Amino acid sequence: MPARRPRGPAAPAPPPATGSVLEVGDLSVEYILDRGTITAVEHVSFDLDPGEFIGIVGESGCGKSTLLFAIAQLLAPPAEITGGSVIFKGRSMVGLTDKQLAAVRWRDLSVVMQSAMNALNPVKSIGAQFKDAMRAHGVSSKQEIAGRSAEVLKMVGIDPVHLKSYPHQLSGGMRQRSMIAMAMLFTPDLVIMDEPTSALDVVAQRSLMVQIKELQREFGFAVIFVTHDMSLVSHFSDRLMVMYAGQVAELGATRQVFDSPLHPYSAGLLDAFPSIRGPKVHLSGIPGSPPDLARPPHGCRFAPRCPKVMARCEAAPPDLYQVGGTQVRCYLHEGASGGDAGSWASGSGGPGSQDAGNEDARSAL
Ligand SMILES: Nc1ncnc2c1ncn2[C@@H]1O[C@H](COP(=O)(O)OP(=O)(O)O)[C@@H](O)[C@H]1O
Ligand code: SF4
Ligand SMILES: [Mg+2]
Repeated sequence: MPARRPRGPAAPAPPPATGSVLEVGDLSVEYILDRGTITAVEHVSFDLDPGEFIGIVGESGCGKSTLLFAIAQLLAPPAEITGGSVIFKGRSMVGLTDKQLAAVRWRDLSVVMQSAMNALNPVKSIGAQFKDAMRAHGVSSKQEIAGRSAEVLKMVGIDPVHLKSYPHQLSGGMRQRSMIAMAMLFTPDLVIMDEPTSALDVVAQRSLMVQIKELQREFGFAVIFVTHDMSLVSHFSDRLMVMYAGQVAELGATRQVFDSPLHPYSAGLLDAFPSIRGPKVHLSGIPGSPPDLARPPHGCRFAPRCPKVMARCEAAPPDLYQVGGTQVRCYLHEGASGGDAGSWASGSGGPGSQDAGNEDARSAL
């Protein structure tokens, strides 16, 4: 973490200079419903270094939001953590009381949710909402509240005059920026973002992403950024987790996953977005739809849609295999531990081939 990193008011001790800021171990979450149990997150493990940016991608319904809610301890029934651990700054988040969690949120860990702009209270000014958050954390000095509120709003490129504005007086992009500013009030160690740009047009998306990245570089917080748009995180994340049907399909360095996707699903996702440069190519996407998580396939969850499915794939589920620095849940890479088992470059007919259709994202890395 950079030495110059400022802390918000009355900040707690920073995390240790070495070691992970977050360790998620074997985490599973179920929605327990009358019609059955949905395992939305299954045995997910990853850790995050201070200042690291991890992107989590996958189709709608694959468990991304549930995973974030579980990390931030925001789940409510019928959702339940059924196994695993979440260690944040060396302390278990699972089982903390509401009071203990309230002390951690905003100050150490901030969450910007999907359509966060709609999470703003419509009958309170932006400044009043910032004030509530700061007061909840024991900051009572009017001067301090006003100063910090103006500071964070400026950080996200909004004139502090808008502290007096109500949410409906701001554009969608400004409301999203305000939420991100609110997340910065205490300069947390970890910012969790769930599709924070999904309601914005492409230009506003790009500009907000650049701003998030600049803030992250300046203040050194770690980011977990969820999106269904792989191209969005390609430019910004250090590592990429590809989720499929509640499980990690692939987890590795972003450049590695983009250049040489190992899992056929990662390759399919890469094939699903267009290039604005290079030759026009047919976007093949991924045929079919994800499985019902109440009744997932017995073997590999991707088997019904996988172009490389083998008999064994339907018989038993594959483990996560380590291939160099990447983890991949696919039999094609079983036994490749530590080596290079070849890749599924998107649009390829086999390991190792390349696809010009994704060169924008790849070259941008
Ligand atoms: N409140 C809920 N009750 C029951 N099932 C839910 C609820 N929220 C999410 N799910 C189910 O959990 C799975 C994962 O959902 P979610 O985490 O929202 O996925 P994503 O964020 O990737 O779109 C989906 O199958 C969804 O139907
Ligand atoms: S395990 Fe089999 S079905 Fe699953 S992704 Fe790999 S090749 Fe495809
Ligand atoms: Mg979601």
